[in-house]
Amino acid sequence: MFFLCCITVALAACCVQAQNPTCPGYTASDVVTTDSGLTAQLTLAGPACNSYGIDLENLTLLVEYQTDKRLHVKISDVNNTVYQVPESVFPRPNGTVSSASASQLRFDYTESPFSFTVTRQDGQTVFDTSGSPLIFQSQYLNLRTALPPNPYLYGLGEHSDPHRLNTTNYTRTIWNRDSYGIPYGENLYGAHPVYYESRAENGTHGVFLLNSNAIEVKINNTEQDGQYLEYNVLGGVFDFYFFDGPTPVEASQQYSQIVGLPVMMPYWGFGFHQCRYGYRDVYRVAEVAINYTRAGIPLEVLWTDIDYMKDRWIFTLDPENYPLPRVRELVDYLHAHQQHYIVMVDPAIAIADNYSTYSTSIEQDIVVHYENGTVFRGVVWPGPTVFPDWFNPETQQFWNNEFTSFFSADEGIDIDGLWIDMNEAANFCNFPCTDPAEYAEENNFPPERLPARSSNPRPLPGFPLEFQPNATARRIKRQEQSGSMMGLQGRDLLDPPYAIRNGAGSLSNKTIHTDVIHQNGLVEYDVHNLYGTMMSTASREAMLVRRPGIRPLVITRSTFAGAGKEVGHWLGDNLSFWDKYRVSISQMMDFSALFQMPMVGSDVCGFGANTTETLCSRWASLGAFYPFYRNHNGDTSISQEFYLWESVTQSAIKAIDTRFKMLDYFYTAFHKQTVDGTPSLCPMWFVYPTDTQALDIDLQFFWGDSVLVSPVTEENVTTVDIYLPDDIFYDYNNNFSIVRGNGSTITLSDIDYQTIPIHIRGGSILPLRVESANTTTELRKKGFNIVIAPGLDGSASGSLYLDDGESIEQPNTSLIDFTFANGQFAMTGSYGYDAGVNVEAITILGQTGEPAVVTIPGSSNPQYTYDSGVVVINASVPLTGDAQISVD
Ligand code: GLC
Repeated sequence: MFFLCCITVALAACCVQAQNPTCPGYTASDVVTTDSGLTAQLTLAGPACNSYGIDLENLTLLVEYQTDKRLHVKISDVNNTVYQVPESVFPRPNGTVSSASASQLRFDYTESPFSFTVTRQDGQTVFDTSGSPLIFQSQYLNLRTALPPNPYLYGLGEHSDPHRLNTTNYTRTIWNRDSYGIPYGENLYGAHPVYYESRAENGTHGVFLLNSNAIEVKINNTEQDGQYLEYNVLGGVFDFYFFDGPTPVEASQQYSQIVGLPVMMPYWGFGFHQCRYGYRDVYRVAEVAINYTRAGIPLEVLWTDIDYMKDRWIFTLDPENYPLPRVRELVDYLHAHQQHYIVMVDPAIAIADNYSTYSTSIEQDIVVHYENGTVFRGVVWPGPTVFPDWFNPETQQFWNNEFTSFFSADEGIDIDGLWIDMNEAANFCNFPCTDPAEYAEENNFPPERLPARSSNPRPLPGFPLEFQPNATARRIKRQEQSGSMMGLQGRDLLDPPYAIRNGAGSLSNKTIHTDVIHQNGLVEYDVHNLYGTMMSTASREAMLVRRPGIRPLVITRSTFAGAGKEVGHWLGDNLSFWDKYRVSISQMMDFSALFQMPMVGSDVCGFGANTTETLCSRWASLGAFYPFYRNHNGDTSISQEFYLWESVTQSAIKAIDTRFKMLDYFYTAFHKQTVDGTPSLCPMWFVYPTDTQALDIDLQFFWGDSVLVSPVTEENVTTVDIYLPDDIFYDYNNNFSIVRGNGSTITLSDIDYQTIPIHIRGGSILPLRVESANTTTELRKKGFNIVIAPGLDGSASGSLYLDDGESIEQPNTSLIDFTFANGQFAMTGSYGYDAGVNVEAITILGQTGEPAVVTIPGSSNPQYTYDSGVVVINASVPLTGDAQISVD
């Protein structure tokens, strides 16, 4: 009956409305209630509907009041045979410490048909599944919650849609895929099945579904069903975590307690990075470094894409265009100049003769297979490839060995960080990809290289230019493909009955086929969304083997919930268009504030298509406020290094100057996120949660919680309309003049291409470096200017975290708190790390006149100036102990 309805195109609406018309739901029984939660049996309440799989008759309900603010609700099969996200990939917290009486969230249920609600202590219902019967089938789970009309929902990534999600006719697919151009309304590279709902003054809560299967969330408001959010999941179990908040920051912190706190990044990782696909030889890369220096733009990290590889084989060097001695010379040069080097490693291993990485992977059998034992083959950059199986315990050792020899400091390429890509996993070959070799040949993989040599080489000192490149395209032999297309466990793994809206088409298209099995018997169908995160874990581990105890900077494309505890993320293949510049802001806010993955940024100036001078100029400024600041470009696009245009050069110099002065303020915020989950970059509604107008703002953001960034977002304009909440702000670009926000939009004008509007939120104290530097190593030698921005009540506070910038464990760090009230500035805290620099100035904003008396301990005659409301006091206060300064 249902299928009849669905095949009639004219009745498409019927499919949406009556998706599972006859499903019976479940009846709860054997309910055992304890103070810390409850368990129950759920039994199918009528004849099976088998709408998109086989109904499972007996389920178990587990409810745990895990903390006062976190409720765990899990519905799984009674035999516990259905796939669940493995503990090895996603460890669960131990123990339940709260109780029904202490919890801020209450769980209630209806016996038959079974449904449940989650309510706050104030009576607000945050989750209510009574609108439709629970469906739990072999290949399909369905659960729907009612929501208030027009809800404020955020999250459910990775996506490029507005920060606040649509509330009608909206589908969010979560199924990791290579998504060139980051198309709107589609599934992208990562899987983060968590949403946050703001109810403004009634609080914000979060809901996380721990599930790695393909998920389609539908959000809609219909006359028949009202406003709802519905999960349609292709497998696994319903494993929900509810976070009470009630502030958005708390909700995000509570989420971090489940997925894991983000990892601390090295200090140098916050410098400016230059990359591109298509640096055809090492000389070109060297030239870029020199050109940045010549242009006076502080370049911290230089990257090389797959261009360095021989025929795109991972762990190889192109002997002609990237000869090892020259690459080592380049890396030595960078290191000698306090700069760093990063290269890309993809997961896929080329199928080739005389290639030890491939032969070892086959000998050690660490790649993924079909059920019948045939190795799975796809096509990535090098042509036909096999794919490491991260579930195989031997794979880590294999990966470590490859890293240790290829990236050896003594004999190989001594990289400082790592870029991992194509790990959704991407496979260019269309399903069923019966002949990868043929596909590779027809589609020119590996791609022909551009002729080597720079057009205008400027060698590094000691760089001879004697080599004559002669790159030749490699021809790949045909290989047999005999992959099994059989489903396992009675499930149709290739063509499940419920078809999610996957941007790539069928589930297996352009990726590892979903009937491929992993070493422990798990099928790709269930674990697909974990591939990139598992590669991240293995790669971070391999980096740690090379440099034990030193924080690795690893940037990945594909992620799963919790990936931030090991790596950072760049937002993939955007385009050099203004809309992609704009959308980078909400994508970045999502990753930092909602997904707890704060080392994030998009390709500055855009990856695909050709940038323009004005776009690149604005993007150089915006990117300076991404946590991860990297200019990256596609191989067929025009060059876009900042130094290529004078206006962009000036934008970059000015933006980096500001970023570097503020770098310790941001590093402190970032560190705090790694300790307690407080987002280091967030949307305005996180800072002003009860301001309903802030809920839709997605073109402005807070860097830390004190620096409001409001970029110009349109082409060919020098104005921007910005929203300022009811609060006091100080204009960073205009001598810190006071701007009194009143909960309305104001227009800023005459914003030249070298300027990005920045406002300091009243109530903040920012530890700024007195001046910028060419590298972060030099920056760390500069003293501090403590900028006090009094709030409406005249007081302010802030903090400064100091450490050696690179060690994972270190006994000695400093965490210094600053307060200001009634003319008294105080520094208190712990002072384990001696940065060897002093507070050289204290700047107090918003003053009505010159102070009469300034008292600094140890200084008999403190010098200060007053100009237009700003007092600047010269100081020489070491950052090694408490201090007090009074201003009357
Ligand atoms: C992928 C990456 C891109 C990279 C390219 C070549 O498209 O997303 O950043 O430049 O592969 O490696």
